[in-house]
Amino acid sequence: MKQYGYFDDDVREFVITDPATPWPWINYLGCEDFFSLVSNTAGGYCFCKDAKFRRILRYRYNGVPMDSGGRYYYIKDGDSVWNPGWKPCKTPLDRYECRHGMGYTRIIGEKGGLRCEVLFFVPQGGRCEVHRVRLTNTGAAVKRVQLWSFVEWCLWNASTDMENFQRNLSTGEVEVGDRILYHKTEYRERRDHYAFFGVNRPFDGFDTDRETFLGPYNGFDTPQQVFAGTSDNSVAHGWSPVASHRFDLTLEAGKSEELIFVLGYVENPPEAKFSALGIINKAPAEELLEAFGTPAKADAAFAALKGYWDGLLGRFQLESAVPELDRTVNIWNQYQCMVTFFMSRSASYFESGIGRGMGFRDSNQDLAGIVHLIPDRARQRILDIAATQFPDGGCYHQYQPLTKRGNHDIGGGFGDDPLWLIFGTVAYIKETGDFSILEEKVPFDNQPGTEKTLLEHLKISFARVADNLGPHGLPLIGRADWNDCLNLNCFSDNPDESFQTTENKTEGSRAESLMIAGLFVAEGKDFAELLSQPAVSADPAYVDEVREAVSRMETAVKQHGWDGEWFLRAYDYYGRKIGSSENAESKIFIESQGWCGMARIGADEGLCDKALDAASKYLECEYGLVLNAPAFSSYIKDYGEISSYPQGYKENGGIFCHNNPWVIIAEAMAGRADDAWRHYCKISPAFAKDQSLRKVEPYVFCQMVAGAEAAHPGEGKNSWLTGTAAWTWKTVSEFILGIKPQYDGLLVEPCIPQHIGSYRVRRRFREAEYDLTIRLTGKGGSFRIPYRPGFQALEIEL
Ligand code: BGC
Ligand code: NOJ
Repeated sequence: MKQYGYFDDDVREFVITDPATPWPWINYLGCEDFFSLVSNTAGGYCFCKDAKFRRILRYRYNGVPMDSGGRYYYIKDGDSVWNPGWKPCKTPLDRYECRHGMGYTRIIGEKGGLRCEVLFFVPQGGRCEVHRVRLTNTGAAVKRVQLWSFVEWCLWNASTDMENFQRNLSTGEVEVGDRILYHKTEYRERRDHYAFFGVNRPFDGFDTDRETFLGPYNGFDTPQQVFAGTSDNSVAHGWSPVASHRFDLTLEAGKSEELIFVLGYVENPPEAKFSALGIINKAPAEELLEAFGTPAKADAAFAALKGYWDGLLGRFQLESAVPELDRTVNIWNQYQCMVTFFMSRSASYFESGIGRGMGFRDSNQDLAGIVHLIPDRARQRILDIAATQFPDGGCYHQYQPLTKRGNHDIGGGFGDDPLWLIFGTVAYIKETGDFSILEEKVPFDNQPGTEKTLLEHLKISFARVADNLGPHGLPLIGRADWNDCLNLNCFSDNPDESFQTTENKTEGSRAESLMIAGLFVAEGKDFAELLSQPAVSADPAYVDEVREAVSRMETAVKQHGWDGEWFLRAYDYYGRKIGSSENAESKIFIESQGWCGMARIGADEGLCDKALDAASKYLECEYGLVLNAPAFSSYIKDYGEISSYPQGYKENGGIFCHNNPWVIIAEAMAGRADDAWRHYCKISPAFAKDQSLRKVEPYVFCQMVAGAEAAHPGEGKNSWLTGTAAWTWKTVSEFILGIKPQYDGLLVEPCIPQHIGSYRVRRRFREAEYDLTIRLTGKGGSFRIPYRPGFQALEIEL
């Protein structure tokens, strides 16, 4: 079982010791509006605000070799040419280490008595990456070495950068300063922004034209300038602009040299765009280099960044007897929640940063992972999302981060979407106690003049589902519910059209979803509870209406949604059952067991326990619970994309980690601690043993792990950006450890195996700081802590 790295919890890092990981293992830098993806070989790119329209570095998704493009430092030491991150030259190193930490990555390469350490981070308050490059001569003799930096610019729009060569190969423009190389393509016309790559001392040579630097037909692994020990001082005109500085260095024995590079982005006010005709106003770039461009300043910015993360993660810290659990809770799960919140589903090594905006449902769910960390940003996000709702309660399925406007290509019509606004808002208010958000005026479809309070938005969200029921009194699914691939009103046999947006039946949407039914009951109960808070002066008659709609839905589920051993998944367009023992394939699905279980529908009659037993019996495999079983073995036009995947992958029998927590929470609500714990451990990366099998980063959850019916069960995919992050956080913090934020305080109600014995949670909650020691005595039950600001240490026996 080959391993590629290990956790170093004391410094909150994952340490990669072999650069040839099965798939690039990446990290994210940035926590404001400048973000970077950086792999264990320094691959990746950065962007400001929007990964499609403000892409700064060019990156070749799907390239060969994989992970091509990044911030590369080349070293020439005698005849040996190498990179500290091993790639792109892949010269064998005497030592390699990559440490991915909270918002930074440190890569160390060593060869022939020379050590190069590069620290990459995005400082707070600066739209840039800082690269602190430290070269150390570890030998006994003087060394003369050369260092080249190298980045390749993306011509801003990541999509047209890959398409419109007849134009792009003629647009590239750069300027060269004495420490800074500027990328100003399209600045002459409608762009007020440019990028730059600067360094804190004058260089000995530079290149800005790619082919001049690399040499025709060469790859990044054989740059001709580096091998020749030169630079050409090339100035790009069109073609592919790059930025490379060269330094000729003399290193005394045992001595180090430190260079600070700043790779940044500048937006100028239109009136101060130029300093002379066609010459960009460089002052902001020079200021940015000045701000971070000494070792002391870079170190101070790095220390501030560390302080930021220490403060954030300090808001919830666990000490238990299970190191894998502590590691997940204290470090990586919270970190992944932050990254997922920032990126939504846009930019990862599985998401190109081009195709998808911010999902209405995704972004609402992501809130559950970060409301306790960055409540102000959560508040703004809720208001942004709500503003993409339509007056009839439907909503754009996605919106674009740069404009915050709804995405017309996809439009709306996903049956579950509106309910997630209730989910997100409830999570926010329970955490913060900030009821004032309900009074915020929010427009519809971002149209000025249409504003209503957020509370009104929630009401129409609820009504949108309550008033759109199908023949069995169950919610209409629309284009799809949470499962984007269950396309029951689509009927596509044309490979060139979208499963989600094709509409070819005149009667429109008729299929019904049990997943939405469960979601409706769960969120309806939450909504009624919210409306009943003293701070919300809701009309009692309206609250009764909500409760009645919820209760009618429960009845409908019990009457039409129970298959005997588990909850059905849906009724198709023709009113036939899906997810029933009567079906030949996919007799059972996970989503309805999870949601009806969390909604506790029919709990008193034993339905929830039965459904959870069935989930374990039919869906559980070594690596988690698969989405449906048995998976579809051929394409079924009536069901859509779900049946397009080979068995065991993605929504067709994959372990779709996002929905495992729903079952785990339902297990916890049913008081079944051992089942909850077992399911939780199976999908948690910290408990996964085989890094080679899993392939993707061992420190983050995946969207999908190949299921039992796949060729390689246990293989992970789509790491990082997934609702799994927020849902596993909610699961572990609220339902396993049992620290549940309530409107008036915390409720401690763990559901954790007895053998864990006791644990300690230090948790910031609004203006309170709790230090809770929880001893599991076996008596169970819960403990209520009314909110009061200040410090409180409590010992709780349950
Ligand atoms: C994926 C889904 C995703 C959808 C988005 C599908 O191909 O399988 O997971 O939600 O695309 O449109
Ligand atoms: C990923 C999408 O981002 C999410 O919105 C969807 O619910 C799941 N896939 C399941 O299809």
